[in-house]
Amino acid sequence: MPRIIIIATGNPAKFREISDIMGKYDIAVRMADLRVDVREGTASYEENARLKAFYVAARLGADAFGEDSGIEVPALGGFPGVMSARFIEGRDSDRTDALLDRMRHLGPPDRKAAFKACAVIALADGTTVVGYGELNGRITDGPVGENGFGYDPVFVPDGYDRTLAQMSPREKNDISHRRRAIEAVVEKYLFQRGVGAE
Ligand code: IMP
Repeated sequence: MPRIIIIATGNPAKFREISDIMGKYDIAVRMADLRVDVREGTASYEENARLKAFYVAARLGADAFGEDSGIEVPALGGFPGVMSARFIEGRDSDRTDALLDRMRHLGPPDRKAAFKACAVIALADGTTVVGYGELNGRITDGPVGENGFGYDPVFVPDGYDRTLAQMSPREKNDISHRRRAIEAVVEKYLFQRGVGAE
């Protein structure tokens, strides 16, 4: 019987990525069938990932996975960072347009950016494991591509000449910040339990 981890997200695009990435482990994932009703803080990705994972683990009495992520532009002091999903109201495309607008006077050296993710598994016994991931790249002048979600259409990873939204889900999942954070946390989780990847 594979272990079951409940994924504390209401975002179907994120859930798909998380379950694809976890596919190589002997773990069954389920989307939490409750609204993950947490008030995210502004301190760190880890704080928010912990809040989501604990919320679900406590209510369902099961091991739960929470993740928080964002994009950071060093030339803007790390903005929007933990506020990536909510620095203005509206849809993902509104926030992407707002970010492009704030960057319209910035030349190539100042368009460097990084996606960051923190993943937490809260265990039913009250302990946690944590993993981090990062993907470096740059912000384009305008959105390109139809795949993915969020800031994918404006982010070109280092070593590529296409945005994440121009990549297949598999290509993105091979290099993403989320993949690195998930692998780090799941490997620690399985190690603690004396189980390896398939
Ligand atoms: P969260 O759901 O609170 O973790 O919000 C993460 C924010 O960062 C959302 O605005 C996402 O659109 C953005 N974000 C995080 N990871 C990615 C990604 O892989 N691609 C595009 N945007 C992302």
